[in-house]
Amino acid sequence: MLVNAKDMLAKAREGKYAVGHFNINNLEWTKAILLTAQECKSPVILGVSEGAGKYMTGYKTVVGMVNGMIEELGITVPVALHLDHGSYEGCMKCIEAGFSSIMFDGSHYSIEENVAKTQELVKICAEKGMSLEAEVGAIGGEEDGVVGKGEFADPNECKMIADLGVDMLAAGIGNIHGKYPANWPGLSFETLAAIQEKTGTMPLVLHGGTGIPEEMIKKAISLGVAKINVNTECQLAFAAATREYIEAGKDQSGKGYDPRKLLAPGFEGIKATVKAKMELFGSIGKAE
Ligand code: 13P
Repeated sequence: MLVNAKDMLAKAREGKYAVGHFNINNLEWTKAILLTAQECKSPVILGVSEGAGKYMTGYKTVVGMVNGMIEELGITVPVALHLDHGSYEGCMKCIEAGFSSIMFDGSHYSIEENVAKTQELVKICAEKGMSLEAEVGAIGGEEDGVVGKGEFADPNECKMIADLGVDMLAAGIGNIHGKYPANWPGLSFETLAAIQEKTGTMPLVLHGGTGIPEEMIKKAISLGVAKINVNTECQLAFAAATREYIEAGKDQSGKGYDPRKLLAPGFEGIKATVKAKMELFGSIGKAE
């Protein structure tokens, strides 16, 4: 059964580790992430961007697939199904479809409008028993058509949004979706520390998890980050393993063209990536 992310994130914040949010794209992604979470006895958050939701034919399909897999695969660790960078309309659709958690990305609105819309969603999520992530200060880079300028969040604005009663807060601290450029100056721990000071025990969310050096991840967790989003790294692992299979001519040998064989190395690539992240984030064994 799906759960919201409140409990798992409160425990992570308290225990100084982070829960991984891994974006899903299709059946292979979802199965790989769920099985790895179960093997690692780790709580997990499945992230669905609006683009990925559309690709999978709609949010109802996603809910059906995830609920079906949890049952058929005997998944017992806590799993939250979470809308990633949702618009207000997208949030309403996911609430309707049976997601257990949503992110409303109002970072491109004025702070007043971000507050007003987030406030409405706080009320609805409380009624439905869902968890809500809000965002202050756009995350840099592009993800599924959502383009951010890479701002540093204003700690006072973070407090305004946190005080509305959201369950987790994403704040721009120099993080970027996708690969980091070679001249990236790194995360601003000064900003993160100031946000933590203003927001108390609010679980903070680090987007753009791909390619952030290990020591920066650990430091971010020590400063209140309890949820870390990873998307691109699973895509790169899947693509590299699939490329290797094709380049070795394996699709042309025997029944190597069978999608269950052709997609297997990529599937294993996602599993290995997810496991390595769970180790780094410290979430292994936390669902026991
Ligand atoms: P990456 O693609 O950089 O890992 O970022 C994922 C993310 O933040 C999803 O919201």
